[in-house]
Amino acid sequence: MSGRVEGKVALITGAARGQGRSHAVRLAEEGADIIAVDILEDIDTAPYAMATKEDLDETVRQVQALGRRIVARQADVRVLSQLQAAVDQGVAELGKLDVVVAQAGILTMGTDTPQAFFDVVQVNLVGVVNTVTAAAQYLESGASVILTGSTAALLVGSVDITGAGGLGYAHAKRHVARLGHDLARIYADQQIRVNVIHPTNVDTAMMDNDFMYHAFRPDLENPTREDMIPSLATKSPMGVPWLTPREISAAVLYFASDESRWVTGQQLKLDGGQLLPISSSGAPA
Ligand SMILES: NC(=O)c1ccc[n+]([C@@H]2O[C@H](COP(=O)([O-])OP(=O)(O)OC[C@H]3O[C@@H](n4cnc5c(N)ncnc54)[C@H](O)[C@@H]3O)[C@@H](O)[C@H]2O)c1
Repeated sequence: MSGRVEGKVALITGAARGQGRSHAVRLAEEGADIIAVDILEDIDTAPYAMATKEDLDETVRQVQALGRRIVARQADVRVLSQLQAAVDQGVAELGKLDVVVAQAGILTMGTDTPQAFFDVVQVNLVGVVNTVTAAAQYLESGASVILTGSTAALLVGSVDITGAGGLGYAHAKRHVARLGHDLARIYADQQIRVNVIHPTNVDTAMMDNDFMYHAFRPDLENPTREDMIPSLATKSPMGVPWLTPREISAAVLYFASDESRWVTGQQLKLDGGQLLPISSSGAPA
């Protein structure tokens, strides 16, 4: 099947690399034009670099190679005025807005300071609120809003116990889950749907960095990506260490398309079964 989002315009935050770029390319493959936003600057409390201008240029190149249009802007999701300007320019150029993928995010795990908590909540929660706010005036019946949570939102005693940064990450993602539910209710009578995707580990720069190698292999002095992978796999009953960005994009595409026209308020776990054991009653959660 092709053309599953033909003629739609999708806003994607954090689109310079990783899952965001993958979503941009996957939606473009199926006929969408893209408004791509990214910070392109580092955040001190994150123990790995953010995307660069070259990364965003590569997203632009890949979308254009598919024959689709893309408006790419540097903007920090924490700053509503920057985001609003980017969205306004994108809509002015591409004509409308049908899909919002609010997925820019950071992980400040390992930094045990109040600033680490504030930064991750500002990006991962306030940034999502800002994204929906900037997009809201353009959304009409049939529009789809997709928020990126994390299995960290649904797990207790995991990322949330790794210090203030990890607690902030879990806290922000739990509230993104709740926000998605509340927004779905608020927007239902306008026939705008809101769904949340909760990935387990995904093979992107957020996981594939020196800090994470050490976090998952504290027994080694100089752990590598290859050393980390078996440790990641132990978290999944299916034995999958992490998903590919493209596997997450498959869910984004479904929620972006009219195939999910009447699907709203969902919390879709893409988790290799990671959350199956987390149910005290044994009942489906
Ligand atoms: N990688 C994982 O294991 C994993 C698991 C579950 C959920 N997630 C979530 O998926 C989303 C995408 O992350 P990813 O895995 O692609 O990681 P990534 O670090 O490769 O991509 C995140 C992107 O967001 C951008 N960004 C960060 N702060 C920003 C800001 N303030 N304004 C605008 N852009 C900003 C970064 O520059 C980067 O391009 C995040 O919300 C993350 O929390 C990731």
